[in-house]
Amino acid sequence: MIDIHCHIIPGVDDGSANIEDSLNMAKKAVEAGITHVFATPHHLNEKYVNVKSDIMDRVLRLNESFLLNNIPLTLHLGQEVRIHRDIFTSLEKDEILTLDDNGRYLLLELPSGRVPTYTQEVIYELLLKGITPIIVHPERNKELIANHKLLFELVQEGALTQITSGSIIGNFGKSIQSFSKKIIEHNLTHFIATDAHNIGTRGFTLQHAFETITKVYGIERTFYFKENAEQLLKNQSPAVEKPVPFKKKILGIF
Ligand SMILES: [Fe+2]
Repeated sequence: MIDIHCHIIPGVDDGSANIEDSLNMAKKAVEAGITHVFATPHHLNEKYVNVKSDIMDRVLRLNESFLLNNIPLTLHLGQEVRIHRDIFTSLEKDEILTLDDNGRYLLLELPSGRVPTYTQEVIYELLLKGITPIIVHPERNKELIANHKLLFELVQEGALTQITSGSIIGNFGKSIQSFSKKIIEHNLTHFIATDAHNIGTRGFTLQHAFETITKVYGIERTFYFKENAEQLLKNQSPAVEKPVPFKKKILGIF
């Protein structure tokens, strides 16, 4: 399996604290059936700054450590960029890192409590530059939980999204789990990833999430998500199913 969102680089954000942690995470990922991981440290999230050149250097070194330790896991380049008014300045300074540095797909994080007013403009400007934003864990965003229609609009405008595997299996609570299911049912998500930060509570739960998806929606839905991640790895376009609008509430009932 391929994991497109993971905080496995040591000492750069709130993920792995040191090389020992990173090696343990890598071993757990392999045990969980994962062969390729995109390392996606936080960038511009008000706490962490991790520019492209630094990440490239660190991914190279961590891949070497995996080889030295006989861990069959391949690390790929990535970054989780918080939506920020400086995002285009950072892009001009060549600090932004798309997945595999292919200039096509970018993990974009919204603040957990809201959707900034300029979000649609950022998505539009990125698309104009040939970069498709993949909005990470929309199911955990409070404004989107309250306003499903807004998520539909963002996807309709061309953004892709990624749900966190832990959300699907209930690790973030019932309401996030239930919104995750609604997002899947309305074709508003295109990837499932771990967003792993450690080997404990935020580990590699990809397989568990896929088992749940298969049970609820059938194996073809699991294949859809797995194939989309494979497409990214091959530098090809993922499949995008037509988003389904949410039905209007009638007398307060769906
Ligand atoms: Fe993340």
